[in-house]
Amino acid sequence: SKWDVLAAPRDPILAIHQAYQQDPSPLAVNVSVGAYRDAGGNVHEFRAVRDARLSIAASSTYDHAYLPISGLEHLASQSARLIYGDDVFESGRIACLHTVSGSCALRLALSLASRVLGAEEAHVSLPAWPNHVQMVPMEALKLARYRYYDYDRHAVDIDGMLADLGKAKRGDVVLLQACAHNPSGADLKEREWRRVADVVQQRRLVPVFDMAYQGLASGDMEEDVCAVRTFVRKGINVIVAQSFSKNLGLYNSRVGTVSVCVADKVPGRDTATNLLSQLSWLARGMYSSPPAHGALIAAKVMGDDTLRAKWLLEIKEVVGRIGKMRERLRDELERRKVAGHWKHITQTKGMFVLLGLTYSQVERMRVLHHIYLTGNSRINIAGLNENNVAQVAEAIAEVVQN
Ligand code: LMR
Repeated sequence: SKWDVLAAPRDPILAIHQAYQQDPSPLAVNVSVGAYRDAGGNVHEFRAVRDARLSIAASSTYDHAYLPISGLEHLASQSARLIYGDDVFESGRIACLHTVSGSCALRLALSLASRVLGAEEAHVSLPAWPNHVQMVPMEALKLARYRYYDYDRHAVDIDGMLADLGKAKRGDVVLLQACAHNPSGADLKEREWRRVADVVQQRRLVPVFDMAYQGLASGDMEEDVCAVRTFVRKGINVIVAQSFSKNLGLYNSRVGTVSVCVADKVPGRDTATNLLSQLSWLARGMYSSPPAHGALIAAKVMGDDTLRAKWLLEIKEVVGRIGKMRERLRDELERRKVAGHWKHITQTKGMFVLLGLTYSQVERMRVLHHIYLTGNSRINIAGLNENNVAQVAEAIAEVVQN
């Protein structure tokens, strides 16, 4: 019978996270899913988020009415300002919709490209966040891959990337990660983004930026959005999927936005408003309207000078701790003279690094050492702390030797 279906593939990230949760060993270490953990190993609540959450809970005007399809306007406008800057925001060239976090923002971005802009193919980095690969055909787009990470040099393969994008067809989508590339942590430099922007402009591609880690690469919101702004300055129309899961730690509240910035205003036409209506129409068919609670918190943090300053300061602390754990891990591996390349652990950005282990070494890490990383040997550096970094290095040393 057609109902007698096979099981769907397990999610390569969330299945590992689940396996960790089922491991009763006190030694178990979770360096799988990309959630920021503090020095005590706990998923972190930002101080500004706690303040905003408590003040919203104390308010007598809270209600459970539906938000509009386009979500909380105040959140969308704060997010658009954070991405494009106040000047571009005020130029009236932006459509921004509050979404069910980065995943739905990406689905809407791809949906807009495919159903409204007529794109047929989407180019995704090699390697990429596995969900990128999964979403593309779900939005009726053909999947193509472009070279991104050079596993031998442990760095971005900019020439390969430019050569592959140079073969894309006019109107194709190119999915780019704005900063803190998942899974490699290897980002383009600003001058390299300019070269990518040249190709995108020449070939008239549709750039979709996935920005899930704004602030968490450099500690600076503006610096981390330089790729998007480079494109906008060049007069390229862009689509941006923004997530507030990591940089506000609002994972299960599902807060994000999808936005489009158009370069030219057509006289007599309100293109931004029309784009917003197209995105709203797609969102209505997908999930109707987004949840409010986390968005109220996010909008309050970004819209209040004191809370915002507190948040931006803490982002720097978080990035500082990640940087320190990158140094600690590299140091522990080098001190043990473990065969392999470990320099890139401190040269990459954000939460992730690819260790360069084989699939069976990763398996051994899990089965023998209770260390849970994804099959491509990506570890979440933010899952490391002073209590487990030596243990993780010791386990890497063991699997590399055996
Ligand atoms: C990750 O890559 O671990 C995060 O983006 C979380 C997720 O949903 O996969």
